[in-house]
Amino acid sequence: MTSLSEASPVEVLAEAGRRRTFAVISHPDAGKSTLTEALLLHAQAITTAGAVDGKAGRRGTVSDWLAMEQARGISVTSTAIQFEYRDAVINLVDTPGHADFSEDTFRVLSAVDAAVMLVDASKGLEVQTMKLFEVCRQRGLPIITIINKWDRPGLDALALMDEIHTRTGLTPTPLTWPVGLAGDFRGVIERETGDFIGFNRTPGGATRAHTIRLSPAEAALAEGANWNTAVEEEGLLTMEGQTHDEALFLANQTTPVLFCAAVVNFGVRELLDTLVDSAPFAEPRLDVSGTPRAVESDFSGFVFKVQSGMNSNHRDHVAFVRVCSGLFRRGMTATHSATGRPFATKYAQQLFGRDGSSVDYAWPGDVVGLVNASTLRVGDSLYEGTPVEFPRLPMFSPEHFRAVYPADRSKNKQFRRGIEQLDYEGVIQVMRSPARGDGAPVLGAVGPLQFEVVEERMKNDFGSAIRYEQLPYEVARITDADGAKLMEGERQIEVLTRSDGALVALFSTAWRLQAFSRLHPTLTFGEMADSPTR
Ligand code: G4P
Repeated sequence: MTSLSEASPVEVLAEAGRRRTFAVISHPDAGKSTLTEALLLHAQAITTAGAVDGKAGRRGTVSDWLAMEQARGISVTSTAIQFEYRDAVINLVDTPGHADFSEDTFRVLSAVDAAVMLVDASKGLEVQTMKLFEVCRQRGLPIITIINKWDRPGLDALALMDEIHTRTGLTPTPLTWPVGLAGDFRGVIERETGDFIGFNRTPGGATRAHTIRLSPAEAALAEGANWNTAVEEEGLLTMEGQTHDEALFLANQTTPVLFCAAVVNFGVRELLDTLVDSAPFAEPRLDVSGTPRAVESDFSGFVFKVQSGMNSNHRDHVAFVRVCSGLFRRGMTATHSATGRPFATKYAQQLFGRDGSSVDYAWPGDVVGLVNASTLRVGDSLYEGTPVEFPRLPMFSPEHFRAVYPADRSKNKQFRRGIEQLDYEGVIQVMRSPARGDGAPVLGAVGPLQFEVVEERMKNDFGSAIRYEQLPYEVARITDADGAKLMEGERQIEVLTRSDGALVALFSTAWRLQAFSRLHPTLTFGEMADSPTR
């Protein structure tokens, strides 16, 4: 590519228009890693299946990278994978795979333009899927639904549509309809054409699935009763108005549905086509004052994730930036809105799992990882030209609290550095009080697995084993100096200072908070969620 020092608005809009930036939301085990791998395989970003999932027994890892993730088979951290399909550029932003990581996931979902909701055909909508769905709804993200594992016995297809409708409020508008019951997946009706797309299994799913296309008449002959049933069911959908409508999908009222068996690469091409044909591309993002930043204006972006220790050779701080407008050029100097200082982007790289390869340009919708970005924090904005500040990302209220100590006192320095770093990354909230002393911070987590992540990272990345002391608190609220004074010496209440300076009151139970509030009706508490990340 010739060097681009700037791009015309027309070019920026054209490149932004090619981008499809999405995340997959699912309950653990629904098949997210398998689907990611299958998507990459279809897009020919990787040549052999097995390069994505980090589970024991499979080959290397693309989207998961912490040793712990591999051991547990869950994805704790987020990376972005970019590949080309048809004339589009697909950015798949990996969401953390565990129910505990809602905060982290929320940040990722703030950086995408659409979500793919992956549902296990035998389980229907599970807890984590519903939680993530709620976040998508709050963000107004259009959702494409994939019913996965259709090669295995599962729930009835119409019953699944009912469940989606009742539990999410979205009208499912299947783009394909399965021929053959779950467990006997013959293929699908492509509703737009009425054709039958039959799948031939490929051994082990190691290559792209071969598909055959038959006209309805040919399919009726080949598939007999299975075909007739599917056609009848498809007719019902049409009668009920469950047909794809682009405007309703983009308005978050309907969800296109595809039937899929990711493990054998069934239905994956259809997902890619749907992303390219129907998923939205970058829209002007609103700044703190509610003013949209035009996609074709000067470069701007915001940090949705920071991470350290991705490369065990040199422990870099990587800030993941979602480009919102304009052309990002490696080496450019942008302004860091939080400090007003220049920020050099010399080390920008695009992240494909562990193997970060350098990226020279990025367009609205893309995600770049900026290495050595220790001054950038989650929620920070970067821009060139006209200043912009995007709204900060909300923090969630922790419900689990532990005091943390170095297991080995001689590792105090490593301990401090590690805690500081994890705090900065937003892995966990860190609070302190004079009574406990600087060496014994209190950690607040939204879910208990976060503590395991901290333990693992402290040991592996910072060389400091830690021990925890469980604290008897369940509720946290923001208070002020007057409130803190009132709570001094109260039983089952403790006030700590969070690293951003906020005073946080911890209560043993919600009941304790209520009882205290009743005694002091003039005292008001802030929700942790109202206090943005900084
Ligand atoms: P996750 O990232 O959402 O947690 O799920 P993952 O892809 O790891 O898939 C969870 C399990 O479901 C895996 O089985 C995987 O092979 C299986 N799976 C995923 N998609 C399909 C599908 O379309 N059909 C069927 N039948 N199975 C599917 P596992 O036993 O945990 O691992 P493995 O031994 O198969 O690798």
